[in-house]
Amino acid sequence: MTTPFHLGDDARYQAWKQAKLQDYPTSLTDLLVEIVDPEALTTEERAAILSRCHKSNMALFRLRYPERCTNNPLPAITAQLGIKELDHNLGAGEDGLSALTPGGSAYDPFAAYIPYRAAAIGWHTDGYYNPADHQVQSLCLYCERPAHTGGENELLDHELVYMQLRDRNPAWVATLLEPDVMTIPARFDAQGAVARPERTGPVFSITAEGALHTRFTNRTKSIRWRDDEATRQAVEAFRQVLQQPSPYLFRGQLARGWGLISNNVLHTRNAFSDPAGQPVRVLYRARYFDRLPAA
Ligand SMILES: [Fe+2]
Repeated sequence: MTTPFHLGDDARYQAWKQAKLQDYPTSLTDLLVEIVDPEALTTEERAAILSRCHKSNMALFRLRYPERCTNNPLPAITAQLGIKELDHNLGAGEDGLSALTPGGSAYDPFAAYIPYRAAAIGWHTDGYYNPADHQVQSLCLYCERPAHTGGENELLDHELVYMQLRDRNPAWVATLLEPDVMTIPARFDAQGAVARPERTGPVFSITAEGALHTRFTNRTKSIRWRDDEATRQAVEAFRQVLQQPSPYLFRGQLARGWGLISNNVLHTRNAFSDPAGQPVRVLYRARYFDRLPAA
């Protein structure tokens, strides 16, 4: 397996970096692909989505006729793209798809969890609390109805965060690759039983195919970083990268009929609101244990 993400091979890393930054997208428009029929992607539509995911780990799509869509089109789209291993997380409905809308959790105790509320969510990747052998490799969203106000997302390719850290200090990357830097404490159910055990893992890991995976949350509650100076400095540097201005940081609100296809990139969500008595925001989410194929 060859990968630019191991620290030992600087020549390979430099070649990868040069190729990565060449013609890197700089606007939401660069990421956008229009889909005519989500049930039957054309060869060009599929290739356009996959090439964007290959380049920047994400693509946006826009249905030309969202009004023709009576069902959530994500399962059909992701199946045609070649991602299959759906994460049937507890909050998802029977088809494994979560409706991210206030009160949208299929599993009641999750109704108060942040994704199902209208509050802002800081930088994170999805499923950072999952076990090592079930990491969320791809994350897809579809917007059936945007919020009246708010609900914008910021998106940032995790490979670019890795790049900035490695260029400034490879020791930070080495620390974040260590398998015990980040611990998510156990979650307990109402009866006090362990609903999900404590999980410890790295921030950066390299898949069997040589791809970079990132586990991260900017939360300060319900997370325990390894208690040493190297970890503190590496995490602080990671946070700084997320705060600094970048031409590669994308910001926008998914409109009706728009969606995201991604290799679980770093993202945020602004708070949102809908007037009382009006229809509320409906966003569908699907998480998978496999990555987008190269083509
Ligand atoms: Fe998320």
